[in-house]
Amino acid sequence: MTDQNSKPSPRTLIDAETIQARIRELAARIDRDYAASDCLIAIGVLKGSVFFLVDLLKHLQIPVKMDFFQTASYGSGSVGGEVRIRKDLDLSIRGRDVLLIEDIVDTGYTLRTILDLLRFRGAKSVKLCALLDKASRREVEVPIDYLGFSIEDVFVVGYGLDYDERYRNLPYIGVYDGE
Ligand code: IMP
Repeated sequence: MTDQNSKPSPRTLIDAETIQARIRELAARIDRDYAASDCLIAIGVLKGSVFFLVDLLKHLQIPVKMDFFQTASYGSGSVGGEVRIRKDLDLSIRGRDVLLIEDIVDTGYTLRTILDLLRFRGAKSVKLCALLDKASRREVEVPIDYLGFSIEDVFVVGYGLDYDERYRNLPYIGVYDGE
């Protein structure tokens, strides 16, 4: 099959059905863990986490609010790891249970910065839910409380993840092999 630019479609790494089944399992765990929470605030990191966040939240039974963060890395994001905020939260998180939702944890710099900031702003609790983990690439420690899948060190696209803003709308996770 070819995509709209006549390039071969990325090879499937995790198919759509497998992603959805795993999301249902994660949602059931989150429902149980936050059963006593007033109202969870789920925070997505734009843009890659959008598909994952929406599908996950559709399965939650607990009360939940939704907000978004957008970051930009200087350089590649893995050199020095300096991260700046491009879009900040709309909601106050002081005293609230916060679940940060991310597409993929790579070096860990982006997540480390955001998690520190959320704690600094006085959240009652902060946990991380990530769809994918490339553990072999980690440079700073980031504990993942809810994980979809561990993957090898390959560049993946689809289900929110992009290469140069393309492929986000693929319903599956594929391996991008270059042009
Ligand atoms: P970190 O700060 O190195 O952990 O960067 C995480 C961010 O890098 C993710 O939110 C993605 O935007 C991007 N990223 C890392 N690996 C991939 C990949 O394989 N495909 C697409 N984006 C990736």
